[in-house]
Amino acid sequence: MSNNKLTTSWGSPVGDNQNSMTAGDRGPTLIQDVHLLEKLAHFNRERVPERVVHAKGAGAHGYFEVTNDLSKYTKANFLNEVGKRTPMFIRFSTVAGELGSADTVRDPRGFAVKFYTEEGNYDIVGNNTPVFFIRDAIKFPDFIHTQKRDPKTHLKNPTAVWDFWSHSPESLHQVSILMSDRGIPATLRHMHGFGSHTFKWVNKEGEAVWVKYHFKTEQGVKNLAVDTAAKLAGENPDYHTEDLFNAIEAGDFPAWTLYVQIMPVEDANTYRFDPFDVTKVWSQKDYPLIEVGRMVLNRNPENYFAEVEQATFSPGTFVPGVEASPDKMLQGRLFAYADAHRYRVGVNHNALPINRPQSPVNNYQRDGQMRFDGNGGGSVYYEPNSFSGPKESPEDKTSAFAVSGVADSVAYDHNDHYTQAGDLYRLLSEEERARLVENIVGAMKPVALEEIKLRQIGHFYKADPEYGTRIAEGLGLAVPEEVK
Ligand code: HEM
Repeated sequence: MSNNKLTTSWGSPVGDNQNSMTAGDRGPTLIQDVHLLEKLAHFNRERVPERVVHAKGAGAHGYFEVTNDLSKYTKANFLNEVGKRTPMFIRFSTVAGELGSADTVRDPRGFAVKFYTEEGNYDIVGNNTPVFFIRDAIKFPDFIHTQKRDPKTHLKNPTAVWDFWSHSPESLHQVSILMSDRGIPATLRHMHGFGSHTFKWVNKEGEAVWVKYHFKTEQGVKNLAVDTAAKLAGENPDYHTEDLFNAIEAGDFPAWTLYVQIMPVEDANTYRFDPFDVTKVWSQKDYPLIEVGRMVLNRNPENYFAEVEQATFSPGTFVPGVEASPDKMLQGRLFAYADAHRYRVGVNHNALPINRPQSPVNNYQRDGQMRFDGNGGGSVYYEPNSFSGPKESPEDKTSAFAVSGVADSVAYDHNDHYTQAGDLYRLLSEEERARLVENIVGAMKPVALEEIKLRQIGHFYKADPEYGTRIAEGLGLAVPEEVK
């Protein structure tokens, strides 16, 4: 058979793809036109659920090259030699909008990287901001409800947004970043990326350090003016997606330098901020940036659905040498992502070409929906066994660590949500401060309850009296006496 013949999904040639089979010229249509039935039925099932957050995204392939050997801190094999290259895939995204929503909105940007290492996949699932709005996973569904649409009006609801933030002062630092110029990047190429959480690196000797990741854009940071962004959102809602694709297609490959901050394990007990609190940064004076390598994006996906929509990133996708920290957000994320993947893409999502490790996968998992990869063939399917099946490697065990205390629902005991947000404000130029205040005032004006506005003004004031006062003035309100 000519291999250019149109076929059904079961491979048999299709006789007519333009006219359905009818009883006589006028019909009705015959159920025996199985090609028609299959075509309509498959089409009905073309969508998988969009990601519950970060639904709108753009992806690219590339490589990561080590420029500085940090094997004294981590045994992660992909980092163990200067010059070593590891293939990777990245997906950038907005957070709140749906799959078809505009790119140039004020929102954090997702920055999810999958490294296909020789010891399995390693994912860093971060954002373009070093901190987050909340610091305990138990608050995430409520937070996201306020970012999504109101269940009655199906509109975005600023009252809910600021109500939640004003009741969650730990959000102040991230809210200040979001409302600053950096809240609307010029392109996906002109922004930094951060792992945000603290992770643990472990070396060959079993010694651990705490680590934070910083991807610094080599294109420079550039942002969009509010009115340009609004115009683009209407005229070209896919502006960022298009920019990334076109740059790579034209051979203008975007690159980021990866740095880490390293904190000795014992410092975590005495550092002036809780190093596991994802609403805080570590000062770079205390823990300077150390270069690790360079990430270059040099290939566009061939197929958006197969590669970008079906890509599954999880902060729990670790390789030996990288482990979790006690960060309460990270701990919750270790469950949430793989669970989302099983629901959104299916239990065998890791066998899909975009997610499949480029190193051997040997285990005793079998069957499940859409098991398309040979399912282990006739190889031994249980353990322990007498048939030389794959065995655990004790040298790759997660490092042991001490725990203490009483099991309870416990809050972080650091409640200074103001110093770092205030430092950020004080670092800005007058023009940047004016734009920050204008953005916040514009965003808070539609809030329905004055009580919410006053509570939030109090937080800005505690970060910096000038910051709070300017926002209060912009909203035509007075700073509440009790915060002064
Ligand atoms: C996507 C949950 C916090 C960055 C997602 C998805 C879920 C989720 C369920 C969709 C996954 C999928 O369908 O493939 C959570 C929970 C959080 C949390 C429960 C807190 C407990 C964070 C934080 C960051 C982050 C702190 C960044 C520092 C991302 C990114 C994506 C994502 C980048 C998109 C990944 C992709 O491109 O496929 N999150 N998230 N999330 N989240 Fe989170």
